[in-house]
Amino acid sequence: MDREALWNQLEEAVVHCNRCNLARSRTNTVLGEGNRQARLMFIGEGPGRNEDLMGRPFVGAAGKLLDKMLEAIDVRREDVYIANIIKCRPPNNRVPKEDEAKICLPYLRRQVYLIKPKIIVCLGATALHYVIDKDARITAVRGNWVERKGYYMMATYHPAALLRDPAKKYEAWEDFKNIRDKLIDIKSAKE
Ligand code: URA
Repeated sequence: MDREALWNQLEEAVVHCNRCNLARSRTNTVLGEGNRQARLMFIGEGPGRNEDLMGRPFVGAAGKLLDKMLEAIDVRREDVYIANIIKCRPPNNRVPKEDEAKICLPYLRRQVYLIKPKIIVCLGATALHYVIDKDARITAVRGNWVERKGYYMMATYHPAALLRDPAKKYEAWEDFKNIRDKLIDIKSAKE
């Protein structure tokens, strides 16, 4: 099967997914979007209200902030891929339950397998816990690179956390500059 067919298969599976209770309350599933050959992939927590309504990731206030941060490091949103740990909105935007996340994770793994990004950035504690380290604290490990299975991975604050607590923006900006430098390293290593 070619790549496009594999993506179609994944999209179909997610759109019709009924594996957990979140399927009952969702408006739309949110698989993710962006460049399917991206070097840089972001992983958030799960769709919020706007994302649920539009079927797209990071389109609300947190998404607008993410867009600005990308612009600040000269990265276009359409050049990266953006996904979430879970594909359906939890009621009242609560944190996904462990069983919901675990049921949904094979979809994310499939996305990572198909995209094969060089860099994976986890936005916030939920993505950190399910992708990098289930016991780590975001305040302790943010900004640190972990190299695993050929991927450079880092966690930074979720943009929604930055909206709640703007004092964290300085550290997040340091992390984004670090991401920009890693991208430059990877590009120059290829040339
Ligand atoms: N927050 C997330 O974690 N993901 C989205 O897609 C939107 C907000």
